[in-house]
Amino acid sequence: MNELLFTPLTLGELRLPNRIVMAPMTRCRAVGNLASELMGQYYRSRAAAGLIISEGIAPCANGLGYARIPGLFNEAQVQSWKRVTDGVHQAGGKIFAQLMHTGRVSHPLNMPAGARIIAPSALAAPGEMWTDAAGLQAHPQPQMMSEEDIAVTIGQYAKAARLAIMAGFDGIELHAANGYLIDQFLNAASNKRQDRWGGSVDNRCRFAVEVASACATSIGGERIGVRISPYGVFNGQAPDAQMDALYLRLVAEANALGLAYIHVVDHASMGAPEVSPALKQQIRANFTGRYVLSGGYDVARAEADLEAGRGDLVAFGRPFIANPDLVQKLKDGRELTAADATTFYSAGAKGYTEF
Ligand SMILES: Cc1cc2nc3c(=O)[nH]c(=O)nc-3n(C[C@H](O)[C@H](O)[C@H](O)COP(=O)(O)O)c2cc1C
Repeated sequence: MNELLFTPLTLGELRLPNRIVMAPMTRCRAVGNLASELMGQYYRSRAAAGLIISEGIAPCANGLGYARIPGLFNEAQVQSWKRVTDGVHQAGGKIFAQLMHTGRVSHPLNMPAGARIIAPSALAAPGEMWTDAAGLQAHPQPQMMSEEDIAVTIGQYAKAARLAIMAGFDGIELHAANGYLIDQFLNAASNKRQDRWGGSVDNRCRFAVEVASACATSIGGERIGVRISPYGVFNGQAPDAQMDALYLRLVAEANALGLAYIHVVDHASMGAPEVSPALKQQIRANFTGRYVLSGGYDVARAEADLEAGRGDLVAFGRPFIANPDLVQKLKDGRELTAADATTFYSAGAKGYTEF
């Protein structure tokens, strides 16, 4: 029982002690956009995971759309993360930084002075988001990115990748899922451009590919993973007729760049629309790096999917929240503590490091 999940695996140049990944989870404890002492405790106590993927971290001020999320674009932020990665490494773990630019999923009240809400098209994301100053607020209409904005933003990702390594991360994950900036380019529901950054599959992939390529030049493709959410509908995204072709094109580009892994978001078990099984199989068959499964996993399903060759690693999100010792609990077959959703994004230790 549980043989594969607890078997070591290589990922790029890393050797992971098991195939359990801690999924990226925004927890909104980064007051001042810095990684705190509390966050260091939180990550360190989960270092038994084969790989931790950090919460979404903004590669620039324009990417800081949510309240109390961290950044990775200045010296103070690098130093703050250094303490976190040191703690994880001392505890024997490995940690990647998830680079998340929120794009249009943002509000000025959450952003530092001078930051701008930018996106491929001047089209507001549906729905509302939390702000500490004024509660729930509608997403405002973003500014359509100019050629210069696009070039600058790609450069910011490449710099953040470099800073992530300086801050002691073992690599980065590009958040190209769930309706954030890279996905805003990929998806026709948020990308209405008619220039070389929108329209055809090649054009909609261009931003993702250029970001990944610039990051690979910075730190090497073997230290980069990419998270995608085909058929996702979060943050106003929608499937379209070219969806499969688009993701297979991305896979081909990821192969060319030698990326370490593709992390596929599949929230179907949580009530989201089904992700085409045929597409998942094709991604699996065509990608030369590792495949990370995610979305509503328990040990039995994880083991069955690994056994069936559907992926190489399994990401667990919510189970890690109230079970810092998740890996040991899964190994022992012990019951898990349920997470308290009211503390997912609250400030402070309650529901984060204290239960
Ligand atoms: C509190 C919370 C925050 C999340 N933040 C992120 C994030 O920053 N980046 C991301 O890619 N996914 C994020 N997710 C999605 C998770 O990574 C994961 O895909 C999802 O929780 C499903 O996996 P699970 O059933 O194991 O929890 C978040 C999920 C939760 C519950």
